[in-house]
Amino acid sequence: MSSCSRALPPTLAALGVVALVSLPGQARAEDDSFAMSVGVSLSVSFGQKLVAFGLGADLRATFLMEGSVPGAFDSGHMGFGPFAQATWLNFSAGRFAIGTHGGGDLSRDASIDGELGWMYRTPYRDLLPGQHGLHVGVMASLLDPAVVDFSAGAAIPLSGEPFAPEGMLGVGVHAAPIFGERSTAIDGRPLRTADGVVLPPALGLGPAASRPARLDRATRAALAGAWLDSARAECGSIPAFLALARDLAAVGAPASLVARALGALGDEVRHTARCSEIASELAGWRLRPALLPPPAARDADRQAALVRMALEAWHDGCLGEGAAAARARRSLAGAKDAGVRAVLGEIARDEALHAELGWRVLAYCLAEGGREVREAVGDAMTGPAPAPPADDAEVEGERKEVQAFGRLPRAEADAAWDETWAAARRDGERMLVAA
Ligand SMILES: [Fe+2]
Ligand SMILES: [Fe+2]
Repeated sequence: MSSCSRALPPTLAALGVVALVSLPGQARAEDDSFAMSVGVSLSVSFGQKLVAFGLGADLRATFLMEGSVPGAFDSGHMGFGPFAQATWLNFSAGRFAIGTHGGGDLSRDASIDGELGWMYRTPYRDLLPGQHGLHVGVMASLLDPAVVDFSAGAAIPLSGEPFAPEGMLGVGVHAAPIFGERSTAIDGRPLRTADGVVLPPALGLGPAASRPARLDRATRAALAGAWLDSARAECGSIPAFLALARDLAAVGAPASLVARALGALGDEVRHTARCSEIASELAGWRLRPALLPPPAARDADRQAALVRMALEAWHDGCLGEGAAAARARRSLAGAKDAGVRAVLGEIARDEALHAELGWRVLAYCLAEGGREVREAVGDAMTGPAPAPPADDAEVEGERKEVQAFGRLPRAEADAAWDETWAAARRDGERMLVAA
């Protein structure tokens, strides 16, 4: 067999990651200041008719309020904007409402929205004449796995007879969360730029020796893709730590903190290489993420830098790297492959230390930045939990093999995230009280 044809099967296995490999630098930045959602509903109304059944369509646009650091973090997931509704009542009349709605997310899985506006109902075919009036309503939505709404409202007539207010109850679905998609975290410390979080692109550098494991082609390609995603996330942490070291030095932080940030940078270089090796061996193709430069320093002054660094320490260190450590520990429990176990052990240990560095940076910023930092961090800690990391999406393939190669089922990855969030919030609130 020629070397070319020997290289072919692993190359085919790598096809699953080829789309990703060929992509240029990928920004996950999104415009998160505006959201639009369309929905349909079934409703019953009481009052003017004994009972009227309604089939409705709903459109709402929402201007989202900015988070504490514009562009750098998830928006507050609160907002307001116009809405429009059309309902077909008893296949005989139409009710139209327009107005303003406003509300926000209560948690990762639920939101609440109130609305106030003007409504017009066309005449019923039998006796009731058309009427206009005031429309008030409230809508509670479950966000996961689909956006399911439960609504209650009232229409208060302002014209014509009869003066009979109408009550409405409805259930429906929206195509997208009303207060925008929750942007997801990145595995470990993400690279934040002025345009949002950036994941380094991946490069395919030619055939590599394939790992002799009994894996079907689809599972092998899916695992290679997942480990390549991890390598890209780890690679993004390198410039992120370089920027952290630079910014710590700029605000006059102790040299020991600066040194620890640089030490963490070294860990991330190692993690990148080890994750890339696993991805390459699985794909039979040399895969490497491309190193990106650190983001430019962009804080207006020392105070702004302290606020931003405190929030990043909380989001990316205490939460992001804390969760990366928790996931690696859980992955280790199911991992069988010796090489994978070695890498996971290393990542679990290092990421826990990086999370601890996050707590130290947070403590420093709280001590130096005063009330403004306390308030910003307090808001972040008491707001809805951020969504779990994006690249924890379940790897498709033989479940046992997937776990043997160190990838967690979705439910376990989410549990690691939730446990990290709960513990960090408890410790964080204690730290805030002490500050
Ligand atoms: Fe790492
Ligand atoms: Fe890290």
